[in-house]
Amino acid sequence: MNADARPVTVLDLAAMKAAGRRIVMLTCYDAAFARLLDQAGVDVLLVGDSLNQVIAGEETTLSATLDQMIYHAAAVRRGAPRSLMLVDLPFLSYQVSVPEAIRNAGRVLQETGAQGVKLEGGAPMAETVRALVDRGIPVMGHLGLTPQSVHALGGYRVQGREESAADRLVTDAYALQDAGACGIVLELLPAALARRVSSSLAIPTIGIGAGPGCDGQVLVLHDMLGLNETFNPKFLKRYGALGEAVREAIRTYASEVRGGSYPGPEHSFE
Ligand code: KIV
Repeated sequence: MNADARPVTVLDLAAMKAAGRRIVMLTCYDAAFARLLDQAGVDVLLVGDSLNQVIAGEETTLSATLDQMIYHAAAVRRGAPRSLMLVDLPFLSYQVSVPEAIRNAGRVLQETGAQGVKLEGGAPMAETVRALVDRGIPVMGHLGLTPQSVHALGGYRVQGREESAADRLVTDAYALQDAGACGIVLELLPAALARRVSSSLAIPTIGIGAGPGCDGQVLVLHDMLGLNETFNPKFLKRYGALGEAVREAIRTYASEVRGGSYPGPEHSFE
């Protein structure tokens, strides 16, 4: 747990890497969970566009909109005054042109209280990352399995296994660092490659399915809490069984309502 009571800033990420302190990041989409994560000392809350799958039940992240991201991020901020909050720029909100990326990322900061945005892609996105950073908008990159490119990648599978792909990933990581990114999410990579990238860069890496050699870790909150029971990738560790806990609580409520024992006198007004 992060014992600091002061708000986490984007500058703390580099300081944590330099001090050898692993960064704890989780996705978050609403104020109720944000409050719990903030109180538990999570360093970074990522309002991921995975909310399109987790909250909206879609197959991919592709149809998430900027307005949806802003709605959820504003709720997370209200629940979490201390954790650093980063927000995913959704598909097509930053790829079309640099001015559009600046306007959309600016909206995220202005309307949600986020301290930065995350976007997917390597060298081809470096110009955009540089433009955002130069305008005071911190950016976290995202390499490896980039879910907004799921169709081009042919599915959700481990990336960077071939030497050429691994070399390209290292080049992409340096391009993001040189463009001023404050960190990079590494998703679904062989552990050795993620370790190589992490130890070469000055900026921190945050892994998901990329082994223990990253400077921090992120998981999708509902997956690690056991609220998404049908998703069982090798990298996922469940830290709770909330799906079953919720079902059990609802069954008890239903049976007490049907049996007439709830509400009792202690829940009733004179
Ligand atoms: O959208 C998301 O949840 C993410 C994480 C998987 C890193 O980008």
